Amino acid sequence: TKPNARVLKDVIRTIPDYPKPGIMFRDITTLLGDAWAFRRAVDELVQPYAGAKVDKVAGIEARGFILGGAVAHQLSAGFVPIRKKGKLPHETVRVSYLLEYGEDEMEMHADALVKGERVILVDDLIATGGTALGAVELLRRLGAEVVAACFVIDLPDLGGAEKLRAAGVDVRTLLAFEGH
Ligand code: PRP
Ligand code: MG
Repeated sequence: TKPNARVLKDVIRTIPDYPKPGIMFRDITTLLGDAWAFRRAVDELVQPYAGAKVDKVAGIEARGFILGGAVAHQLSAGFVPIRKKGKLPHETVRVSYLLEYGEDEMEMHADALVKGERVILVDDLIATGGTALGAVELLRRLGAEVVAACFVIDLPDLGGAEKLRAAGVDVRTLLAFEGH
């Protein structure tokens, strides 16, 4: 590589001790705000599926909306929002999912996709995997074929990607930060 070649990982900002002491917060706003990096991240997420049949891209609120929307556009696929509970106006399917401390619920419209549709799940980051596992459960409940789950950032020490693979999901991540 050229000495000044740009790397996606370098455009992600790390905030130590946010939101709590001991947490290294991986902030993607610096990536989103950088024209080269945003395009590069979306291109890398899309690349394996160019020419593949993808009906829908599902994005997880909130950061997964930004990347997932761009990926859906690029693949000429529909976009399905998976939202925190109480935000969607029509009939929903709902799942509770585990957070680092406690749990929460997320929802998807019950008519957001039809049985057999091929769906790619997109989020910015996978940590413990609780969020993504919940999203996959919702998609499968409606009969979707989850083609892959794609993330910019993997935190491998938290084991989420491994858990998702154990659930039979093809997991793709663009880069990883070791440690918690
Ligand atoms: C973050 C991140 C992922 C999730 C990953 O979202 O954007 O969605 O956590 O964590 P997990 O693998 O341990 O479940 P957060 O819930 O902070 O909300 P946001 O996207 O709305 O900012
Ligand atoms: Mg999120």
